Amino acid sequence: MKILKTQVAIIGAGPSGLLLGQLLHNAGIATVIVERQTPDYVQQRIRAGVLEQGMVDLLRQAGVSQRMDAEGLVHGGFQLALGERQVHIDLHALTGGKTVMIYGQTEVTRDLMIARQNAGATTLYEAHNVVPHGMKSDEPFLTFEKDGETWRVDCDYIAGCDGFHGVARQSIPADSLKVFERVYPFGWLGILADTPPVHEELVYARHARGFALCSMRSPTRTRYYVQVPTEEKVEDWSDQRFWDELKARLPSALAERLVTGPSIEKSIAPLRSFVVEPMQYGRMFLVGDAAHIVPPTGAKGLNLAASDVSTLFNILLKVLRDGRTDLLEKYSEICLRRVWKAERFSWWMTSMLHTFEDSDAFSQRISESELEYFVDSEAGRKTIAENYVGLPYEAIE
Ligand code: APR
Ligand code: PHB
Repeated sequence: MKILKTQVAIIGAGPSGLLLGQLLHNAGIATVIVERQTPDYVQQRIRAGVLEQGMVDLLRQAGVSQRMDAEGLVHGGFQLALGERQVHIDLHALTGGKTVMIYGQTEVTRDLMIARQNAGATTLYEAHNVVPHGMKSDEPFLTFEKDGETWRVDCDYIAGCDGFHGVARQSIPADSLKVFERVYPFGWLGILADTPPVHEELVYARHARGFALCSMRSPTRTRYYVQVPTEEKVEDWSDQRFWDELKARLPSALAERLVTGPSIEKSIAPLRSFVVEPMQYGRMFLVGDAAHIVPPTGAKGLNLAASDVSTLFNILLKVLRDGRTDLLEKYSEICLRRVWKAERFSWWMTSMLHTFEDSDAFSQRISESELEYFVDSEAGRKTIAENYVGLPYEAIE
């Protein structure tokens, strides 16, 4: 058996695990990351693209912001389209100067992987059958198989950064967790294409045919989505069918300007709200998608992962440097306060912007009227903007 010793063992090398690892490493705290997939696989997953100021600041603090600061697009607002009507949500003006950064999660992950490699910190890829042990003891450890050998990583703390399907949450006894969940009866069909964005800002469109979103990765690469029923098959969507459907859901002024082209990637993602409480079990902490999922309508998934990372990093720093073990039990409650606010916003944006097939005529009018109220009122636009740019991170005393 191969035995390693570290301070913090991290399961999962997605954005949560890599960012936590980088912050801890920079602070002189030893980490080992254990990841099931290959580096190429991790890097090629197409995911979110909107970073809140809090996450941008955290990436700068971690020293991995050089490319983001050079290539990321700062957006001071976004567009809401309601049928033929277009409303500008001026994030900058409505929040006293806050903005978001358009920079793909794929790029964030790549920057973090390179930084970790340059730092010489250990990441063990293609680790199979990872199991956390002794979480309730003072000597937790991980076991797994890699290259035909059994490995063990002894540590002080375990960070479960292994996403929604990971092993960390599943290793906690069911009677120690409470699960909150809502599954929506639709998904998002997304495509990536090398075409210029239809608008310089993101466009979130509510339409009788269903929701659509025009996002981007750069001035020459777009990421567009349309709401589809859950049972839809990606094989049934030719590029032409996708473009026709997207056009049909945009205000005609935008549809006329839409530049189409071959897709580079096309996939369907289900929509789900999910929270597990508490986000910790003894010396193991759940971070990011391992603990919660939001539907992507509010652009909150990756950003919530970042705020969990910030909270855990600041707590572990005080625990390992100053012996503040009293802070350990605060992790879950601090995270959950912010998580639930983002869950609420993501659910609300989803409810207002999508069509629900089984909703009655009254509910549909109420939901249309709710959106119209919010966009026509400055207080309403402020509420949307304040949540979209991201609520503040809680300080660790
Ligand atoms: N053992 C080791 N690694 C695992 C295991 C396991 N049993 N299960 C999953 N992993 C790895 C996955 O392969 C993946 O690389 O854990 C990583 C989890 O990464 P993500 O799913 O990206 O989750 P996270 O890092 O929390 O990222 C935040 O929020 O809304 C989303 O799009 C956003 O994916 C982003 C996420
Ligand atoms: C994306 O660019 O993939 C994206 C942007 C905003 C969202 C969701 C996804 O709300």
